[in-house]
Amino acid sequence: MAESENPRDGEFELVTLRNGSRAVRHLGHGEVMHPSVGPWKEALGLYVDPPRLADRLRQPGAPLVILDVGLGAATNAVAALTRARELGSERRRELHVVSFEVDLAPLRLALADPQGFPFLQPFREAAEALIRDGRWEEDGLRWELKLGEARAYLRGVLPVADLVFFDPFSPASNPDMWTEHALAEVRRHCREEGEGALLMTYSAATPTRVTLLLAGFYVGAGAATGTKGETTVASTRLESLEAPLGARWLERWKRSSSRAPHGAELTPEVETRLLGHPQWR
Ligand SMILES: C[S@@+](CC[C@H](N)C(=O)[O-])C[C@H]1O[C@@H](n2cnc3c(N)ncnc32)[C@H](O)[C@@H]1O
Repeated sequence: MAESENPRDGEFELVTLRNGSRAVRHLGHGEVMHPSVGPWKEALGLYVDPPRLADRLRQPGAPLVILDVGLGAATNAVAALTRARELGSERRRELHVVSFEVDLAPLRLALADPQGFPFLQPFREAAEALIRDGRWEEDGLRWELKLGEARAYLRGVLPVADLVFFDPFSPASNPDMWTEHALAEVRRHCREEGEGALLMTYSAATPTRVTLLLAGFYVGAGAATGTKGETTVASTRLESLEAPLGARWLERWKRSSSRAPHGAELTPEVETRLLGHPQWR
């Protein structure tokens, strides 16, 4: 299909990836959502299955809360809801997904293409209710939309997060979401007690990891997906990371040409804070 024939809505269009998957692309900066292995595989392989969502939902307890930063075409959110629904009576706790999104065009586009986004179909009514009412609920599954600038909500009161799907556009296209200040705002909503919280993100760049560390997270390597060698998992607890960054990463950082955090200079003060992080003790 020629590019000009791609369905469009506002600032977004639908595209077909080389592997045949459909995905949503931003017309301005050109970034594609879940570009490497296709949306569904990446949602499960990077955000939903590495933190063992299904196992967590098998354990009785308080509702499990996911902050879904960048609802987009709802692939990550629906992947989580799908895992929860699949469990049937094995699920012993509620799942509460809180999605943040400033623009609903990606979700509208994906819903209008059932062949391209078949995995959304079982949650079509849920997604339509989310768009219409800002919320949807079914038998222990709750999905809520925070429509508008995510950072405004992050400054307010939110349920305490067990998991964070951190999937805004990249630091280059969306710098405000990746600053130490923004990530510290996310960190503020993360569970401290018990297993703590895990934040999954696709970026494994040194500045991303530096910024997460400065924002108060412990940081580790995340699952590899498709063409991406590695991703990143951050946590409020060092013990909850399967592959925490250690001396080798720190040595590489010292020699790196991109040692500064996103959106700031590498000052001596920043360097001291990074080197003094409890992760290295
Ligand atoms: C990479 S896409 C998310 C893909 C999505 N997680 C999925 O699974 O389909 C990033 C999304 O974050 C949204 N976004 C970026 N910055 C935002 C902000 N500051 N507040 C709210 N939404 C934001 C964009 O509009 C876009 O839809």
